[in-house]
Amino acid sequence: MQITLSSGKTIPMEMHKVRIVQQTWLHPIDRRHRAMQEAGFNTFLLRSRDIFLDMLTDSGTNAMSDNQLAAMMVSDDAYAGSESFFKLADAVKEMLGFALTIPVHQGRAAEHLIAKTFVKPGQACIMNYHFTTTKAHFEMAGGVVLELYQDEALKTQSDNPFKGDIDLDKLTKTIDELGAENVAFIRMEATTNLIGGQPFSMRNLQAVREICNQHNIMLVFDGSLLMENAFFIQQREQPERNVADIAREMMTMVDLYYMSARKGPAVRGGMIAMNDQALFDRLLPLVPLFEGFSTYGGMSTKEIEAMAVGLREMLSGDIAGSGAEMVAFFVRRMVEENLPVVTPAGGLACHVDVSRFLPHIPQTEYPAGALAAAFFLVSGVRGMERGTISTDRDIDGNDVPAGVELMRLALPRRVYTMSHIEYAVDRLKWLFEHRELVRGLTWISEPPVLRFFFGRLAPIGQWDVQLRKAFCTEFGDDAM
Ligand code: F0G
Repeated sequence: MQITLSSGKTIPMEMHKVRIVQQTWLHPIDRRHRAMQEAGFNTFLLRSRDIFLDMLTDSGTNAMSDNQLAAMMVSDDAYAGSESFFKLADAVKEMLGFALTIPVHQGRAAEHLIAKTFVKPGQACIMNYHFTTTKAHFEMAGGVVLELYQDEALKTQSDNPFKGDIDLDKLTKTIDELGAENVAFIRMEATTNLIGGQPFSMRNLQAVREICNQHNIMLVFDGSLLMENAFFIQQREQPERNVADIAREMMTMVDLYYMSARKGPAVRGGMIAMNDQALFDRLLPLVPLFEGFSTYGGMSTKEIEAMAVGLREMLSGDIAGSGAEMVAFFVRRMVEENLPVVTPAGGLACHVDVSRFLPHIPQTEYPAGALAAAFFLVSGVRGMERGTISTDRDIDGNDVPAGVELMRLALPRRVYTMSHIEYAVDRLKWLFEHRELVRGLTWISEPPVLRFFFGRLAPIGQWDVQLRKAFCTEFGDDAM
């Protein structure tokens, strides 16, 4: 919910009370510097104890509700036939309209099973945009990932409300060229993560569905960020409807739904859902092999209980947009301070536009990784590189420059406050004023797949030392 103040400004209004809190620490810069060095200038390798505000991800880090915690206490730990599973299946049926549910341990587990079952070597997996784990799984199964986004998608400054739309002309042309039999499926990712949490429109989804019908192609839907996409459709396309209705209509167009439940439903798990028994029968044999029996799928039954509650809560009016509204506030404050940021504001995170923040660093020296390291150094805030480091090399071993070079500052839902956001914006402003001190990164050790997770890097020319000096000159040696 947004509240308009008497000054005319709007602010996000949290429609919840905070009853349980967790301590966090803001350590002096020398400790943060040591921590960054030990982490190989990769924010994934930092330890929680060294971090002040953790904006790495909104995955598995969201605050649960009292009703979710209460539901966990009454879970049924049966290996097979757990009552907790049937509560989840009921919630899926009621909120999303799917009769068949397969729990899995998280979103990428769903991608793994879908890739193994539906992707044949050489087949095209067409999508509006990839997610890192999605691409890795589909390619590992021999698929070819084709992203058919509109030109606007990669423009970081835009007022296009639906940058996540698939380009329908490119889609028809691609299917005609390839032949429908060479297309494994079309995948629509809600609130497209890697281009800044940008939604697609209901109109676009309807058009994709029609194209799928014409060519008898399966429509796969990644709903990890469903609640934000449905919320944006309500805000930007269908203001007369409620979010739950919008989500249910979206689902009527989907053959195979999957999600990471670590975001909207705020639990540690995921699922695949569908109405077609034949699809279910093809997936089912792999479930006990890779996940667990089909009524728990690698999840704890406590989390399954909480997921049933979370699915209902995430599509309710006050909760659906609560994360996106905090993000919108973050982005607005960035714009007010003239800091380069992706617009319009998306779901899940504030995305700093690194190509405008550090234009002097070439993509071969990983500016987004450098910014994430520099920002941690001067603030204790952990962000995530979403640029060329996150894009693995091609089969010839060449770096693939990312379409957009971003630092993501994710906002775990119902965890951080406006003061936290103000602090992050202030330190980013300081860093922007000293941006010429930040230089690139070079590899110390580079894993072959999903290198952003475990790769270790070093600053080119020890710029970290200069940056720290500048910070201490202004804020003092013990400065926070
Ligand atoms: N699809 C999307 C759109 C995602 O954002 C994620 C995860 C996944 C699939 C995989 O799900 O993590 O449960 O295995 N996104 C997290 C992030 C990791 O930080 O944005 P998972």
